[in-house]
Amino acid sequence: MDPVAIRAKFGDDYTATELTFRLGIDIRLTRAMAERFAGMRVLETCTGAGFTTIALAEIAAHVTTVEIDPEHQAQARLNVQRAQLLDKVDFILGDAMSDEVLDIAAATDAAFLDPDWAVTGPQHVYRFRHSNMRPPADALLANVRRRTANVALVLPPDIELQELAGLPKHERQGLYLEGQLALYCLYFGALMREPAESELHV
Ligand SMILES: C[S@@+](CC[C@H](N)C(=O)[O-])C[C@H]1O[C@@H](n2cnc3c(N)ncnc32)[C@H](O)[C@@H]1O
Repeated sequence: MDPVAIRAKFGDDYTATELTFRLGIDIRLTRAMAERFAGMRVLETCTGAGFTTIALAEIAAHVTTVEIDPEHQAQARLNVQRAQLLDKVDFILGDAMSDEVLDIAAATDAAFLDPDWAVTGPQHVYRFRHSNMRPPADALLANVRRRTANVALVLPPDIELQELAGLPKHERQGLYLEGQLALYCLYFGALMREPAESELHV
């Protein structure tokens, strides 16, 4: 992967493949979302190459992060080490939909969920309900909300917003990168702020 592109997107000479580079969120956005987790013990799914993990660990008390792909987890470990944050992060290899896996991270104040929406193509339509993300965003949110009310969920920019109707009270933030809607983040519980629909531009 081009080190110049990695530095521009993530802020340092981190390790990434074409895929984990694409999956990772720009440092300006990860830092903006992570800000709400100051001082908390955070459960993160899914680690990817660790770019959100790093932003969270910079500000949170501790991060336990779950990833299903060993190669992604290995990249994340290297990146967190490079950021000198290894002492604040526990890595779990496993399925974020498994109760057994989530039990390991039981003592958390809040959760950050960034399911994989890399499945793409010209005809691809992202679904939140009966989700085609990995893990499925709707089921993941329901599972994690049984453990903590304080949850942030990242969703793709082209999600049908009507699909979010009926969810428990939340703030929906549109995060814009240089004028372009990059993603939505839904905040539940103590992570929520007013107004219920907000925009963040970087
Ligand atoms: C959007 S990426 C995460 C990007 C990451 N937050 C970052 O900033 O680099 C989603 C990750 O979810 C992982 N994943 C997919 N299904 C999973 C599951 N059931 N449990 C845990 N991780 C999963 C994928 O391997 C991928 O690394």
